[in-house]
Amino acid sequence: MAKLTVSKTAGFCFGVNRAVEKVYKALDEGKQVATLGPLIHNRDAVNDMIKKGARVIEEVSELRQGEYVVIRSHGVGRDVYEKIHALGNPIIDATCPFVAKIHKIAAEKTAEGYFILIAGDEHHPEVQGIVGHCEQNYFVFKDEIVLKAFFERNSQKKLAIISQTTYNNIIWGECLKVLPEDDPNIVVYDTICTATEQRQTDSAALAADSDLMIVIGGKHSSNTVKLYDICSRHCRTYHIENADELDTLDLSNAEKIGITAGASTPATIIKEVVTTMEEILNKENPTEEDIDFAQAIDETFKKLHTGSRVKGCVMAVNNSEVIVDLGAKQTGSVPASELSNDPSKKPSDLVNVGDELELIVIKVSDQDGMATLSKKRVDEQAGVEKVIKAKEEETVLEAEVAASVKGGVNVFYEGVRVFIPASQTGLPREADLSELKGKTVKFVIIEAPERRKSAVGSIKAVTRREKEAAKKKFWETAEIGKEYEGEVKSLTSYGAFVDLGGIDGMVHISELSWNRIKHPSQVVSVGDVLKVYIKDLDQEKDRISLGYKRAEDNPWEKFLSDYEIGDIVEAKIVSITTFGAFAQIIEGVDGLIHISQLADRRVENVKDVVSVGDIVKVKITNIDEDSKRISLSIREALNDADDYEDEDEEE
Ligand code: F3S
Repeated sequence: MAKLTVSKTAGFCFGVNRAVEKVYKALDEGKQVATLGPLIHNRDAVNDMIKKGARVIEEVSELRQGEYVVIRSHGVGRDVYEKIHALGNPIIDATCPFVAKIHKIAAEKTAEGYFILIAGDEHHPEVQGIVGHCEQNYFVFKDEIVLKAFFERNSQKKLAIISQTTYNNIIWGECLKVLPEDDPNIVVYDTICTATEQRQTDSAALAADSDLMIVIGGKHSSNTVKLYDICSRHCRTYHIENADELDTLDLSNAEKIGITAGASTPATIIKEVVTTMEEILNKENPTEEDIDFAQAIDETFKKLHTGSRVKGCVMAVNNSEVIVDLGAKQTGSVPASELSNDPSKKPSDLVNVGDELELIVIKVSDQDGMATLSKKRVDEQAGVEKVIKAKEEETVLEAEVAASVKGGVNVFYEGVRVFIPASQTGLPREADLSELKGKTVKFVIIEAPERRKSAVGSIKAVTRREKEAAKKKFWETAEIGKEYEGEVKSLTSYGAFVDLGGIDGMVHISELSWNRIKHPSQVVSVGDVLKVYIKDLDQEKDRISLGYKRAEDNPWEKFLSDYEIGDIVEAKIVSITTFGAFAQIIEGVDGLIHISQLADRRVENVKDVVSVGDIVKVKITNIDEDSKRISLSIREALNDADDYEDEDEEE
């Protein structure tokens, strides 16, 4: 006995199914119903509705008084609604929610001054409906070539680009390549519905695993013909409209038979085909294993319950919501506010078309066929558990600061809001907390989240912890003479504090320069990186004295190597006392010119002979290396010069 398998996405997509159900419901309630055009491309299904009392009309003007008018899943333009309202007929609006979403985008963007570009077939009723929401402010293009030509001829500033739900995905990709890159005036909405694509993928997979495929659907239904084409690439395939044609088929030599159906094929016809097949194959009691049709249909009509968790595939993303396919009768909508707790994130920052999301059902409305869902609640539940665990295990977490708020900043970790009070940010009291916005920070949880209350975190605790670890590491290896490279963190009148990697050491002012300086800022600034070495250590008091001056830069050593007693040099008067004047020979080395050595005559007052800043010629008369004292004499320098002149004259 051959095994029968029905593709799980065979037949109506949810949009068409929803429309059909609405009509049967109205007919069951005894309403007079007229559909504005055939509801679906399936003669049998349309005939069945007609048999049950529905009428098919082409124009609004054909409506009878009080008759309910059904708007098909393709939707209609605004003018059609207006005409119906004018006549006063009640409306059963079966516009597919995906199509209704496109109408909304078209209307909103038109109102915002955008020009609407529509990818699709201008003759298709869905496109004609979309056009009716654009206030004559649109252009329909069928492919990238037409779109390119549009850009060459037009220079509209603000453009909103949308597509027919059944638009070809590959051509859409090509069209996107034509768009100017990163133009903020162009907004693109991927409004292609994946129901058709999914049906084709599922059918191809089933065909690949079958010996024979039966494709059910109208002979002129383009999507059914396409399915036939796809399946016949994998195995022997038949295209039938209904169960009556089964007799004509050769079902021999097929162990595994797959069944799929086009978008307009009602479940009743699929079921009839399956039942007839069973009879033909002489199978009386089909087992669950043999026929999974019922299961496939059940899945198609999955029930949604408020509070339950469901999976949904992202169909479209816009600034205000994400539309998901839940495999249920209702279309799923995740409002932006239910995507994430982080107000700085747009839906497109968080999800992409095609993503599978785990969601919680917040509200189900059978009336408008929509279900409202939340992603953030799922994330929060998982996030809360992670945050509680992080608190228990004192784990350091990392996240971006989302906003500065009253008294602190907010970060979001795995969907959970963590408030970091200003005192725990590690910034000084008067600092502007908005500086942290957008920065990734490390923090620990100091208070776990509670019902309606966010978690509380601390950046400071992490910094403190890191400092302590760095300090511990420092003391393990620190020793006198060891060299470090560190940044100057602060300056005081007595020295500079240098960060040695989590711990600060101090360079005393006397260590900063060989010259006498009044303030460390004369030689270093905050932020400078210095090469220092440890001069002294006191671990108990956490005190580290650093050396900065290098012996090779010692001016006294330089002086000794370059000068000797008897040299006559030019020196600068740097200070004056009652007993003489100090003159600088090189930077950092001064010598004393005693009052008796200031001139070749008796000097009463030093100031009568020299002033600070004067450059004078002096002779080095003595160098006391122990006390680092140098004696200088102008008088001897003058005498030597005289002797030299005398010698010249004698010659
Ligand atoms: Fe069907 Fe609606 Fe998609 S009618 S094909 S579910 S846009």
